[in-house]
Amino acid sequence: MPSLLAAAIEALNCGGLVVFPTETVYGLGADAANPESVAKIFAVKGRPRENPLIIHCHSLNLARTIADFNPTAMKLAEHFLPGPLTIVLPLKKTAAIAAQAVAELKTVAIRLPSHPLAAELLRGFGRAVAAPSANVSGRLSPTAAAAAPTTLAADVVLDGGNCRLGIESTIIDLSDTPPRVLRPGSVTIDELEPFAPGLKPIGAGAGVKAPGMLARHYAPSKPLRLNALSFAADEAVLGFGDCRLGGICRRNLSPKGDLAAAAANLYTMLGQLEATDCARIAVSPIPNLGVGVAINNRLKRAVGGGDA
Ligand code: TXA
Ligand code: MG
Repeated sequence: MPSLLAAAIEALNCGGLVVFPTETVYGLGADAANPESVAKIFAVKGRPRENPLIIHCHSLNLARTIADFNPTAMKLAEHFLPGPLTIVLPLKKTAAIAAQAVAELKTVAIRLPSHPLAAELLRGFGRAVAAPSANVSGRLSPTAAAAAPTTLAADVVLDGGNCRLGIESTIIDLSDTPPRVLRPGSVTIDELEPFAPGLKPIGAGAGVKAPGMLARHYAPSKPLRLNALSFAADEAVLGFGDCRLGGICRRNLSPKGDLAAAAANLYTMLGQLEATDCARIAVSPIPNLGVGVAINNRLKRAVGGGDA
């Protein structure tokens, strides 16, 4: 076993924090059963106590000791896990999970990441790992180890290079009826619908299920202007597809108009444009299809309008 991985497992066992890659974004992990480790995550991120963490598991068997899987959840798990789908289910009374990890809720968000290094870490540790994205609250989720500001506070950092998908997992809530998507991601509502008939999109007439979903997630240090078709000279420009970009600093999420590539580049390029001394960032329209729904969701929440 590579020594860094062994050190990471040891750190989790000793109540420490580990930054690790997943196929979506980097996570900041801790032993989900240990209240002190979980408290460290909230402190390092500056995360509000009422925002629950996702519980990462190495197997469905482990997940089933934590959450009540109904038949729909089993079907989704068989089809999509391990992978970028998080399922919210009733929390088992007997689950070995610190109450603060789930913000004292009676539900729990379960995720089985497919990234090989995440899978090895989880298997090696053997128990559940509570892990939010490895950013400070309100900042961009890191898609590379070096971009995780929480690395400073972590006991071990596992570097798995760039995250393949680049946007946080899709969250589906099956703890209530009808089933509902709480956060769009790479697994789209069209892919989920056949397994969860009557699935509702985010915001569709629902009360707020998790306080965290209300928060303006990523608050950029510069104003964002969305659906921009022309650009001012002092703007940094985030383009998409075959568009003529103005402005003085520019990035294109995908010149070919590939939405998956755009999702993978989104946080890196936003971070690069934020670091310039341009007054604003103007973003080209992104088609609201497939993973484009998740991209638009993150952008809308960043400008504060959000449909979360
Ligand atoms: O892709 C991902 O999901 C990444 C990687 C690291 O796995 N994690 C991630 O965690 O994005 P975080 O903490 O940044 O976002 C978790 C979201 C929050 O919006 C939180 O409110 C929601 O999941 N959540 C957690 N538990 C919940 C629950 N019981 N009910 C509803 N929402 C929940
Ligand atoms: Mg996050």
